[in-house]
Amino acid sequence: MVAALRIAWGFSGAGHLLLESVDVLEHLKDHHEVKVFLSSAGEEVARIYGVLERIGNFPLVRESKQGHAFPSCGSFNLGKFDVFVISPATSNTVAKIRLGIADSLLSCCASQALKSKVPLIMVPTDSKPVVETKAPNGKVFKIYPRKVDLEHIRALKEEGVVILEHPYEVENILERFL
Ligand SMILES: Cc1cc2nc3c(=O)[nH]c(=O)nc-3n(C[C@H](O)[C@H](O)[C@H](O)COP(=O)(O)O)c2cc1C
Repeated sequence: MVAALRIAWGFSGAGHLLLESVDVLEHLKDHHEVKVFLSSAGEEVARIYGVLERIGNFPLVRESKQGHAFPSCGSFNLGKFDVFVISPATSNTVAKIRLGIADSLLSCCASQALKSKVPLIMVPTDSKPVVETKAPNGKVFKIYPRKVDLEHIRALKEEGVVILEHPYEVENILERFL
């Protein structure tokens, strides 16, 4: 079967919505060509939540193995991907992308994607005033994202970045780019 879309998928260092993101990615690989970009924090957090092995089954770029200029980000300038999804996106990665900082694997990839008109879809962890989430041991707790986190998300939406609340929404949105 010919892959419908060439998808780059970024995992940042977030526990919130991590397992759901891995589930979605595993489902998408049956219909699309997928490559994963994993931040160093993403690698640590995926190990803590027990999903690093599942992520490792995909073609993978690890920030921990890249140089400081992130050569792999050039693939976004060279038209190798139809869409870039970052899910889950930490408040750290969201802030960097909004402000034009490109000093980490995912912020550099996003920067190149946006400068090369590759659509960017993000599922931020800190997307509403109160977020209920789960610790690796299953304990449920709440976080209260800061005003600045919500402001970054609003600004990215205005710029044309697709912001979703949950990775389960990704598959529907991808139809837009087929
Ligand atoms: C177990 C664990 C879970 C975390 N979950 C989140 C999260 O859901 N959202 C978030 O913004 N940061 C979270 N963090 C903090 C980020 O990993 C940290 O800010 C890191 O520097 C982000 O780097 P990155 O954006 O390059 O991936 C978590 C950290 C740990 C250790």
